[in-house]
Amino acid sequence: MNLVMIGTGYVGLTTGVGFATLGHKVACVDIDAGKIARLDMGEVPFYEPGVQEALKEVQAQGNILFTTDLKSVIGGAEVIMLAVGTPPKSTGEADLTVLFAVADQVGKLLEHEVVLVVKSTVPVGTNRAVLARVREAMTQAGREELTSLVQIVSVPEFLREGTALADFLHSDRIVIGADDGIAAQTIDLLHEGIHAPRVVTSIESAELIKYAANAFLATKISFINEMANLADRVGADVRDIAQGIGLDPRIGPHFLKAGIGYGGSCFPKDVSALEQLSGEHGYSFRLLPAVIEVNNRQRDLFYKHLVRELGGVKGRRIAIWGLAFKPDTDDVRESAAIDITQRLCAQGADIVAYDPKATENAKLLLADTVQFAPTAIDACAGAEALIVLTEWPEFREVSFSALKDRMIEPRIFDGRNHLADLHLSEYGFWYRGVGLGSYED
Ligand SMILES: NC(=O)c1ccc[n+]([C@@H]2O[C@H](COP(=O)([O-])OP(=O)(O)OC[C@H]3O[C@@H](n4cnc5c(N)ncnc54)[C@H](O)[C@@H]3O)[C@@H](O)[C@H]2O)c1
Repeated sequence: MNLVMIGTGYVGLTTGVGFATLGHKVACVDIDAGKIARLDMGEVPFYEPGVQEALKEVQAQGNILFTTDLKSVIGGAEVIMLAVGTPPKSTGEADLTVLFAVADQVGKLLEHEVVLVVKSTVPVGTNRAVLARVREAMTQAGREELTSLVQIVSVPEFLREGTALADFLHSDRIVIGADDGIAAQTIDLLHEGIHAPRVVTSIESAELIKYAANAFLATKISFINEMANLADRVGADVRDIAQGIGLDPRIGPHFLKAGIGYGGSCFPKDVSALEQLSGEHGYSFRLLPAVIEVNNRQRDLFYKHLVRELGGVKGRRIAIWGLAFKPDTDDVRESAAIDITQRLCAQGADIVAYDPKATENAKLLLADTVQFAPTAIDACAGAEALIVLTEWPEFREVSFSALKDRMIEPRIFDGRNHLADLHLSEYGFWYRGVGLGSYED
């Protein structure tokens, strides 16, 4: 099938490469000319495991091309996917400006039968609004008689950064929200080769499923963080609590890691957008404000705790491990690690940070306030404390005896409980995690 993918970010590029891997002909479009030039040369402009190799393969097969010119590729499209960003407005609602601008552009150019798919995460009603805008632009361009040939299907994306391509190719479900049975079949066919259950439903349900999924996962994280805070007060260990409840298949083991809370480009914005959406429809979704509040407080508690423990941070040399919002990505959008680093900098701390992949993106946010080290151990030279903010696997591999020698004070605040099982007190470290109940001093 011929597919046009508009937006080549984490979602658009990964799914574009994924569909090309399945044998479709994919044209990827983006307004960012620099990004398109790099992609054209086979270079992925962000870190996402496996995408670089898969891109080279599909390029060699001639299954993918990159352009900034939608007009040059739209003619052959059987399916057009919209994968542009839907960032939060200051009110929390999703900003659909770019998505609607793309819809207008598509409508201006469209002259044939096509199935539109919104891959972006969007509030209920957006797919219908996109379809209406495309048809309106076609009408304005004098092609009203063709508007009935254009259908829309909501196919929300569930991939996770860090495992995005594998998540796409081995999806655990494909949600297809459509009015039109034939359009739904086309999308089912497009996903042939992905052996996952199909949830065929209405457009509204499909739109809401995506928000429900992210809000539920965020709720799990906030729940275990509440348990962690209680565990600290009663002398229990939240890791054991997570294991003890996670073995119950009704609960499951995932998203039960206590720490400084969730971040990233999806959970914060999607929980807020769902709360907004509920309010717009006259419903007070009581759980969501609490999920958000717990998540924000988790960072506050960790930050206040470490400032208190250090007796202030002004002028103190502090090492930070991890700036990405989670491991295996270079994405720092809404990263709790960046937030905590910025707070420390604002208080005059002398920060040296290390992240295996996110340094370049972090530099854009932290500007000149932070020094960046080339290795994890280098970041700790002369430090009075180490703060672990992202659970990169390599942090567990360092030589802790060498690390101790490099630090002025062998003190670790672990915001992810990432090193909690390494018995660092045996190396002479003072170690503090989140919700571990008893502390290794
Ligand atoms: N990142 C994730 O893990 C994830 C997972 C599931 C769903 N989503 C949703 O997918 C959507 C995209 O997220 P993302 O992380 O890929 O965003 P992103 O910011 O990485 O990518 C968006 C891309 O769209 C391009 N773009 C902007 N305006 C354009 C235009 N007018 N024409 C063509 N391209 C344009 C940008 O240059 C950028 O490359 C969001 O709605 C997000 O909520 C994201």
